[in-house]
Amino acid sequence: AKPVKDGHYAFTQRPRKVEIIPGTKTEIWGYDGQFPGPTLDLRRGEPVTVTVANKLDVPTSTHLHGGVTAADSDGFPTDLVVPKGHGGHFKPGRHSHMKHDPSAWKLHTGQRDYGYSLDQPAATLWYHDHRMDFTAPQVWRGLAGFCIVRDDVDDALPLPKGERDIPLMLCDRAFHADGAFKYPSKDGTLMGEPGVSDEYHEGVLGDVMLVNGAPWPVLDVDAARYRLRFLNASNARRYELALDNDAPLVHIGSDVGLLDKPRELSSLVLASAERAEVIVDFSKYKPGTEITLVNKLGADDMAEVMRFRVGDKVDDDSSIPDELVPFKALKASDAVTERTFKFEYSSVSGHGSMWTINGEAYDPGGSMAKIKLGTVEKWTLISDVHHPVHAHLGHFQVLSRDGKPPRDTDAGWKDTVDMRPLEVVEVLIKFEGYKGRYMLHCHNLEHEDMAMMANFDVV
Ligand code: C2O
Ligand code: CU
Ligand code: CU
Repeated sequence: AKPVKDGHYAFTQRPRKVEIIPGTKTEIWGYDGQFPGPTLDLRRGEPVTVTVANKLDVPTSTHLHGGVTAADSDGFPTDLVVPKGHGGHFKPGRHSHMKHDPSAWKLHTGQRDYGYSLDQPAATLWYHDHRMDFTAPQVWRGLAGFCIVRDDVDDALPLPKGERDIPLMLCDRAFHADGAFKYPSKDGTLMGEPGVSDEYHEGVLGDVMLVNGAPWPVLDVDAARYRLRFLNASNARRYELALDNDAPLVHIGSDVGLLDKPRELSSLVLASAERAEVIVDFSKYKPGTEITLVNKLGADDMAEVMRFRVGDKVDDDSSIPDELVPFKALKASDAVTERTFKFEYSSVSGHGSMWTINGEAYDPGGSMAKIKLGTVEKWTLISDVHHPVHAHLGHFQVLSRDGKPPRDTDAGWKDTVDMRPLEVVEVLIKFEGYKGRYMLHCHNLEHEDMAMMANFDVV
């Protein structure tokens, strides 16, 4: 994306027909009519304003995922941009099976500004819709894009740059025969339609693999090193990424920044919303070699993600340094408070069973915790099934899984953790930057829309 003026970007959310499946047209809902939305390429310490105008006919809320953002600009699910002239039919809480608290709603007509201070290390962030009850269908239709934060520390490393630094948004989608996106319900919400919510209980999956909006693409690469920034922007699908020739993925970055040092991985699990930056060295292969990025958790068509086709040898002065960035490991003894959050399907009075946190359905006006700004807390997260658990504002380090050391891909600073079935994960989370109301939720977007969210207050 190009700024409209210094430090100021403007996006218009609008529908547009694009060709995703050859020979058909798909109506997407995109930032600037694009899917993925335009990439924001920003720098640490250079705050920006992003004006989002809504020309769709549904309300939206834009969240910068992984951003250290003031609460007012964080894309709270009931802090909405209601399209001018089209929003007359919109009434807060109308579709919701979550609690209805009118005081939690804030409506902007037509457009609004979001301010991002970007006082945080270089990282691969992303922005996406966060409207209460409708995040899943709205992201499914295309409301998501990258935000790359750069800084001097990252720039000074000899890692691949420019054309060899590539963000790759992975997501699965399903389509009707005419090319239209296929999402299971008409009004977008899976709640309240008997028979539907059960079927899509685990989240909505597609059968077409998209990378940056294109099905199973082939990327022509030089015979050189590449920095690939993977984002799992799928509603509910998990991936285990690997190269079909068994070459390693050199893991250099996690959700919210570079690791202390590179780590060679034979495969990489990525749950919804997680990011992983890796280096792949294509200089080892002859021109014309094709290498497939596979998904070891996918069957049939979903077992392949994309292909790389290696071109001619070129000059490449990049390298992978032994040390990346200094990393301060948080210690359990730093934690001033301990909390437990249980992510489970449980019955909520008056609503039957639903996805809950600590037995409660999301209450937009409520708050589960008061957290002191500038402190570290220890959170014990407990899951019944797979839940990618995400916190806003706070970044964390995974301390343990079921009492054992974290997994390879838990390394570094995270904002989302891939919870496995019946797992207990301890994290040390640090809250810096802003006071205000933020949230903790499952990033399986259907679980999120089915009330698996909670607010907390940073005070
Ligand atoms: Cu990417 Cu609250 O979400
Ligand atoms: Cu987020
Ligand atoms: Cu979940």
